[in-house]
Amino acid sequence: MGLRAIVALHDSRGGLPAAGGVRFRPYVDEGEALSDVLRLSRAMTCKNVLADLPLGGGKSVIIGDPATDKTPELLRSFGGFVESLGGAYFCGPDVGTNAHDMDVVEEVTRHVGATNRQMGSSAPPTAVGTFHAIRATSQHLLGTSDLEGMRVAVQGAGAVGRDLVRHLVDAGATVVVADIDEDAVRQVAAETGAEVVSPDAILFVEADVLAPCALGGVLSEETIPHLQVRAVCGAANNQLATPDDGTRLRARGIHFVPDFVASAGGVIAGAAAAGVYPASEMAAKLDGIFDRSLEILRRSDAEGLTPNEVAERIARELLDEAPER
Ligand code: NAI
Repeated sequence: MGLRAIVALHDSRGGLPAAGGVRFRPYVDEGEALSDVLRLSRAMTCKNVLADLPLGGGKSVIIGDPATDKTPELLRSFGGFVESLGGAYFCGPDVGTNAHDMDVVEEVTRHVGATNRQMGSSAPPTAVGTFHAIRATSQHLLGTSDLEGMRVAVQGAGAVGRDLVRHLVDAGATVVVADIDEDAVRQVAAETGAEVVSPDAILFVEADVLAPCALGGVLSEETIPHLQVRAVCGAANNQLATPDDGTRLRARGIHFVPDFVASAGGVIAGAAAAGVYPASEMAAKLDGIFDRSLEILRRSDAEGLTPNEVAERIARELLDEAPER
């Protein structure tokens, strides 16, 4: 298969290069791929500027089935395409690609992050960032970022979820966890003492915070009426099934930290590992997820907007203030 790919550079006011992952999917046609890459690149502008990264927003898509079409030759062709942009775009893994694929892309371009050589798994810093976002949620709800006695329901005990459970338990929170992988959930429960419930029950347990760390689209017209939490804050990408679900959560008085804020630890660590900014500043940027989350929760209440609307508004404000490049 020849390479069919689109790179979208959405906005460079936050910094250069424009950065975002490579999504490899069997899109039905180029029109579908184009609308996806434009939507995703816009989201990356927001994610990068809110994470205080000196990066613009970009994204790329490769049209094809990663299970059958992904070959080293194809990935090298893609890397050549990235190289031809002269550093305007910086890529990394996304759905359908992984660190090993980025190792191949790196054979032909420097403009790639999250390779095995650079960093290994991005899950540990992602979990740290989500932990800070949950602390901010506690600060907003209870006036303290101390999680002692707080009850948190974690959906997914995978790479991010299991680290998050460890941080929460270490901080004195009571944790309920579920995973469809019985071994994964048994292991994290044995290690941390977290309570286990069935995957069907986790979204609806009574808790202070629900932390989705498995799938996208879990907050929907079907699930939101049955949630029994005061807030949702987790790492899973695209938790809202539709933008209207942000309004549904607000109508129920459930606070929400947008996932692209709570899960920014991975891109913060990846950018440091790639030398985009000094690694000595990484811990402060991870801590910054606390401040950004709290700002969004407070402004959502004060301005009567959904957290996602507030996040986009803050991103626009930061970009409007950015110096001319
Ligand atoms: P992972 O694949 O290691 O873990 C996901 C876990 O969810 C698996 O153990 C899986 O069995 C479980 N799961 C699947 N369906 C489930 C269900 N219905 N109920 C309960 N558990 C279920 O993935 P990882 O890396 O932990 O990522 C988790 C989420 O965070 C994903 O949405 C990912 O896109 C997002 N994310 C991850 C980042 C990273 O650095 N790994 C960065 C930013 C976002």
